[in-house]
Amino acid sequence: MKSNLKLAVKPEAQSTEREQLKIVIVGHVDHGKSTLVGRLFHDTDSLPDGKFEQVMAACKKRGMPFEWSFLMDSLQAERDQGITIDTSQIWFKTPKRDYVIIDAPGHKEFLKNMISGAASSDAALLVIDAKEGVREQSKRHGYLLHLLGVRQIAVAVNKMDLIGYSEAKFKKIEKEYRAYLKSIGVKPTFVIPISGREGDCIAGASANMKWYRGPSLVQALDHFSITPPDSALPLRFPIQDVYKFDERRLIVGRIESGKLSVGDELVFSPTNKSARVASIEEWPGGKFTGKTPSTAGAEASVAITLDDQIFVERGQLASHSKAAPFLTNLFRGKLFWLGREPLAKGNKYLLKINTTEYQVEVKEIEKIVNTDNLKIAAGGNVERNSVAAVVFRVRGLIALDNFAENQKTGRFVLVENYQIVGGGIIDVKGFQNLRSGRKVKSTNLHVVENRITPLERNLANGHKGGVLWFAGLSGSGKTTLAGELQQRLFARGYQVYVLDGDNIRRGLNTDLGFTPKDRSENIRRVSEVAALFADAGIIVITAFISPYKNDRDHARAAAPNAFHSVYIKADLQTCEKRDPKGLYKKARAGEIKDFTGISAPFEEPENADLVLDTGKKSIGECVGMLIDYVEQNLVKPVEQVAKKSDYTGADI
Ligand code: ADX
Repeated sequence: MKSNLKLAVKPEAQSTEREQLKIVIVGHVDHGKSTLVGRLFHDTDSLPDGKFEQVMAACKKRGMPFEWSFLMDSLQAERDQGITIDTSQIWFKTPKRDYVIIDAPGHKEFLKNMISGAASSDAALLVIDAKEGVREQSKRHGYLLHLLGVRQIAVAVNKMDLIGYSEAKFKKIEKEYRAYLKSIGVKPTFVIPISGREGDCIAGASANMKWYRGPSLVQALDHFSITPPDSALPLRFPIQDVYKFDERRLIVGRIESGKLSVGDELVFSPTNKSARVASIEEWPGGKFTGKTPSTAGAEASVAITLDDQIFVERGQLASHSKAAPFLTNLFRGKLFWLGREPLAKGNKYLLKINTTEYQVEVKEIEKIVNTDNLKIAAGGNVERNSVAAVVFRVRGLIALDNFAENQKTGRFVLVENYQIVGGGIIDVKGFQNLRSGRKVKSTNLHVVENRITPLERNLANGHKGGVLWFAGLSGSGKTTLAGELQQRLFARGYQVYVLDGDNIRRGLNTDLGFTPKDRSENIRRVSEVAALFADAGIIVITAFISPYKNDRDHARAAAPNAFHSVYIKADLQTCEKRDPKGLYKKARAGEIKDFTGISAPFEEPENADLVLDTGKKSIGECVGMLIDYVEQNLVKPVEQVAKKSDYTGADI
């Protein structure tokens, strides 16, 4: 069955002009993947010289027949010991091109590979054991390919020798699997009967299966096309690192999609700050090549400098402002769950996306899909190996893309206790983009660099700066709680300050009344002031009714990494009964117009980070909860901030 393909050349000697297709091999451990890969290498003449003979001799010595899977094991062992030059990939080749095999023994490896941009594959080879037929796991793999948008799929029905090369049995498996894939919208490009062990239909036709008229496995793979770099998509440049050389600040990363040129204005998310590209340097593999192109496109690793010293750090996502990523604190993940413990509402995980990570909380489990029978359940916990649509919440804002629009930046993995417990794709359908469209009116502005970093302030103060945004009806207890909390935090030595509606309206905002427009402007100014306080390392507590969701969203966007929303909840009846300033009475008598709750609306916060029901809880209890919240979210993260810079990102 040996083909007459050309002899393999070692990767390092290969011409860079040869095409390279990345292919992920998925299938159950026992379905003969290693044997198949061993055979694939041999039949395409891709084995290093003497390797076959070496394995043959080893088998003979042990008195056993030749074992194809040993070839793969042996290659892998060499790779692991770094003997072969290329340490990350296994190669084979056909006259048409080179192939990189990404082996995915289990769901976890598969997810890891599919989700880390660099290793994502162009096509998938799904291996099914002919003797076992379509099993639950084959379906799950198929579903994962569907979820991750892999469109080029070859299904190899392996071990045909064990079922007597039966056409009928093959057809039955093919029919069943095609029907399953069809029901989830996947069309396998090829379904091929093969035998890895016997070498049937690997690199040529099989004498044992004359009834099969389709392509051999190698022909099928050669038929696939290579995914072109996403240069036509909007620019996405996730920041990997920021290096400071002399006065130069080098912003390093890999362009995931689109292209950037010197002179382009880039906006950095989620901070929403912008500056122009002053220079581009080529930095493949973390080293400067000496080349300084004026434009760089998708898949290039570059270092750029900016014309303005805005604060840029690892994890930010650069784009052009016209096509910037979605900015939100809520999004849907369509995910595959691998965790031993079920994913449950209220649970917190670390979400890794692009070059950054976020703490996310499960806000809602929308639906759970049983990948075996495709039944859908609403609610409940997500058990291991299930697929689910889950709404996550982050504090602050996260920059992301809908997977449907950008496959590179629209996927994520979930981590718990340093273990990958799930992964999937982003779907923002139905969520609001919180990116502020506000334009800066003045021109010729130059951002002044702040020489004290947030971390330095954090370490000096013993806590992070932050905005605790209290919203609630007049009389709900905002001012009282803000005052109490301020005293308690001050007593602990924290830097803390209260901004209160009644005071601010006498100074900064004397020109504003209570029309919707004035209230928006009131909140906008306060949001910016609060963001400055937080930037200065101070814990600022704001006590404003802030009745409109949109305005509160903008307040979050003004301090995306430092914002904490607190809903001081008390119903109208309670507030009216309290009426500390006698304003409800006046409003009822028609003496105050546009009074919130009476003649002006209050849009209840739906996604507050903390809800304090002052109708049910005492002031002491509420302050206790606030202190706990501050300790957990503004004090503890000091070490986490320090640790974060150690993270290399290589383990996604
Ligand atoms: S907001 O709606 O723009 O956020 P803000 O918190 O600044 O309001 O001011 C509310 C305070 O102004 C109330 O606590 C109350 O003392 C006073 N006030 C005067 N007129 C009104 C009104 N029409 N509606 C609400 N509050 C009012």
